[in-house]
Amino acid sequence: MNSDTHVSNRWSSRYAYVLAATGAAVGLGNIWKFPYIMGENGGGAFVFVYLLCVLFIGIPIMMAEVVIGKRGRSTPANAVALVAKESGHSSHWSIIGSMGVLAGFLILSFYIVIAGWAAAYVFYAGSGEFSAAAADPATNAEVIGNLFGDLVSSIPKLLAWTTITMAAVIYVISKGVKGGLETAVTYLMPALFILLVGIMLYSAVVGDFAAAFSFMFDIDFSKLTIEGVLVALGHAFFTLSLASGVMMVYGAYLPEGVSIAKTSIMIAIADTVVALIAGLAIYPIVFAHGLEPSAGPGLLFQSLPIAFGSMPMGDFFGTLFFIMILFAAFTSAIALLEASAAYLEERQKLSRVKAAIIAGVVIWIFSLGTVFSLAGTEWAQINFGFMGDNIFAMFDYLTTNILMPLGGLLISIFAGWVMKSDVVKKEFNLAQWQFTLVMVLLRYIAPLGILFVFANSVGILDFIKQST
Ligand code: PFF
Repeated sequence: MNSDTHVSNRWSSRYAYVLAATGAAVGLGNIWKFPYIMGENGGGAFVFVYLLCVLFIGIPIMMAEVVIGKRGRSTPANAVALVAKESGHSSHWSIIGSMGVLAGFLILSFYIVIAGWAAAYVFYAGSGEFSAAAADPATNAEVIGNLFGDLVSSIPKLLAWTTITMAAVIYVISKGVKGGLETAVTYLMPALFILLVGIMLYSAVVGDFAAAFSFMFDIDFSKLTIEGVLVALGHAFFTLSLASGVMMVYGAYLPEGVSIAKTSIMIAIADTVVALIAGLAIYPIVFAHGLEPSAGPGLLFQSLPIAFGSMPMGDFFGTLFFIMILFAAFTSAIALLEASAAYLEERQKLSRVKAAIIAGVVIWIFSLGTVFSLAGTEWAQINFGFMGDNIFAMFDYLTTNILMPLGGLLISIFAGWVMKSDVVKKEFNLAQWQFTLVMVLLRYIAPLGILFVFANSVGILDFIKQST
């Protein structure tokens, strides 16, 4: 293997790796998206299917990505090429790595804009906007609705918040793996967890915890639709940060001797626990205030502030709530920029600082597509057919519904069928029955499961349904 293409960075410990990967996994997906898609797709039954997806598809694919990154010790495209060559196959498999980095790049271009909303809301809550709006119950919902509407339709505001957030992300990545990423997650992750538990306890006291609990954990399969199953699988990918370059890059930095299986399970458990606690923090408030659990993307930014405004110490807890969301989004955003920056650093032989700045600025330029889409600017309203009618919708669709499932499919096939089985076995270092189980999941269960989602997301299932 050509040592020029190898990365020399390593996490300082197993703990640092788990924290950073958990930081990548826990994000807007857990706190913003999971509660509302759970609400839209039938509560407990959806949670159940989602857990199955994480267990049988998400964890094995995470293990596969980490093993590829670690074995190749390079950024994704090179890592896949090196591992493929080692197993006697074509280096063209590197497309899997490139697709991942591209997906991560596009995700960050819209993710950073939503992270910017969270930053804006820290200020709105902190400056007492929620309680001021609640002073007149007759107009409360309208005033809060306008607050959100004004933010997402104002180009200067969106630009300002996106730019500030992106600058902070670039700063962290320019400091490197240990000095930047590790330092950031060492402070932000414990803080995030404490805030989350604190808000859940507050919510249990002031909200309707019992209603939230039964909404989330009473399993009624009659509420589950086939679409709900597909949403659950797609979300398992997004929330575990799979097929976006991140887990391969993080695997390349993995020190020798760390169990890939154990750490993947730990990361998936931590990610899931956070999503469930987020539900238990949000739904008691939703039910106590008669808000709609299936309010969609506006649940966090439009419904909850109405409730916070009229709750005891609502401004204070509302501020903490949005700080928590900002931290969660930030630790995912730095992971996403790491994938692109490491790629530039290795491929173009750039310094870390230059790579971070160039990758960050280019993604920032792409984020203008989302900013102008949200603000309703005409040039961003392009009809991409089934992929949506503006740039933001198209990037979201392209990544979540096409690049991620396709990447996951290829990763599971690559690790299950293309890589030499003794290499995979040596890297996983598992007991025989455990290894067999993981290989069955990678060879059969994951690809078939993903094909099912993928078929739906590109409309094949609808087509079949219509023609039968
Ligand atoms: N897992 C993140 C979340 O749930 O918000 C989103 C994400 C981060 C997706 C990093 C992909 C990624 F590479």
